[in-house]
Amino acid sequence: MSESQSPLNIGIAGLGTVGAGVVKMLQQNAALISARCGREIKIISVIAGNKNKDRDVDLSTYEWADSLTAMAQDTRLDVIVEMIGGSEGQTKEFVEEALKNNKHVVTANKALLAHHGYELAQLAEKHNVTIAFEAAIAGGIPIVKSIREGIAGNNITSVYGILNGTCNYILTEMREGERDFNDVLSEAQEQGYAEADPAFDIEGIDAAHKLALLGAMAFGVKPDFASLDIQGITRLTLKDIKIADELGYRIKLIGMARQEGVDYIQAMAPCLVPKSSAISGVEGVFNAVQTQGDFVDKTMMEGRGAGEGPTASSVLSDLVDLAKGNFVPVFGVPTNQLNTAQWQGPENLTCACYINCHVKDEVGVVSDITSCLKENNVSMDSLIQKGHEQDGSKNIVIVTHVASYKSIKQAVGSLANLSNVLDSPTLIRIENI
Ligand SMILES: NC(=O)c1ccc[n+]([C@@H]2O[C@H](COP(=O)([O-])OP(=O)(O)OC[C@H]3O[C@@H](n4cnc5c(N)ncnc54)[C@H](OP(=O)(O)O)[C@@H]3O)[C@@H](O)[C@H]2O)c1
Repeated sequence: MSESQSPLNIGIAGLGTVGAGVVKMLQQNAALISARCGREIKIISVIAGNKNKDRDVDLSTYEWADSLTAMAQDTRLDVIVEMIGGSEGQTKEFVEEALKNNKHVVTANKALLAHHGYELAQLAEKHNVTIAFEAAIAGGIPIVKSIREGIAGNNITSVYGILNGTCNYILTEMREGERDFNDVLSEAQEQGYAEADPAFDIEGIDAAHKLALLGAMAFGVKPDFASLDIQGITRLTLKDIKIADELGYRIKLIGMARQEGVDYIQAMAPCLVPKSSAISGVEGVFNAVQTQGDFVDKTMMEGRGAGEGPTASSVLSDLVDLAKGNFVPVFGVPTNQLNTAQWQGPENLTCACYINCHVKDEVGVVSDITSCLKENNVSMDSLIQKGHEQDGSKNIVIVTHVASYKSIKQAVGSLANLSNVLDSPTLIRIENI
């Protein structure tokens, strides 16, 4: 290490799971991090909500900042590490203030960037600094670096991801333990895998924040969370998971961003993926992101999508880059070169689908269903009948051939109106990735 290099001075705001993890990692791996950067990464000050909380980490050598504003304006600091969370209010103002004071920002905050990333990137550019966010997508997986640098020479045509560990854990437990959604969710909450208010996770919103950022980087467009079609996992039943398994598929919550000619399509929804695909083997709290580039073909990275260690690891990746003087525009290209994509929803896809109809077990039901599909130009690959319940009902499960997703949705809408179909049928896309 060069003696003359001054340290990279940082302030850390937020000392919860991730913030405390960053402090621990910087302490434990100080020597190797300094060697790799050629200079020390030095924590000058920290701040959290409650100064007196025991955090299981030694903070005695750091100043406690007077306020978020004071930290953002501290002229000694090169980098602000924002580990508070939340897309509005104090956190957003804090990040803006840090950028205005010419400080780089390192964050794990996907909600903030999904909603305000473009404007914040413009502000960063104006002050000749950046916002680094490796930790905001897929925890410890270095996917931001991979897309922005590793495969940067490719025309990237698609990104698929399992981007929420809580959802993937619930789906894995449902299948392996043959358990219902609510049962697994309660247990995940007791064990701390799921938040007390799990809506952000199970409704797909957290994963969609990450997908909006992945799409922006992959295609060089502005992140557009508002136009994302989002479905979570709350409507999935054990029955669907078991039938999908018999048909050779796993059900995963998949984030998809695809370039189709001049169109971009993005969606977050449960999908059937073939058991033979690499992404189907990503289980429990793990995340994975698969990209497709015109020269490299497919790549897939898998790893822990959350937690103290993996997320801190990604924060350190950004800090090491900044310590070496490496920084790039927030979404890989300057904001004036980010295009505005007319994002389309899944309606514009052609795909095969899984349809599960709970029906009265009576004469003519199969022909009513097939007529409905035919009227909408949807042809069947297979049809199976499952269970003959005591209440006189059964399930008819159809796998369609590839067709317009819009037509398939219309067909399912008509199926729901049939007198012998008891509940709204379940429709899940099949993604042969
Ligand atoms: N947890 C993960 O595995 C994970 C993974 C990827 C990304 N992230 C992202 O990382 C960020 C932090 O998540 P986390 O799980 O570490 O959250 P957390 O455990 O709830 O920690 C939040 C921290 O922010 C502090 N804080 C709250 N309001 C503050 C304020 N006004 N001023 C200063 N500090 C304040 C809290 O202080 P007290 O401790 O005093 O309450 C706490 O230390 C979020 O954006 C999250 O989405 C988390």
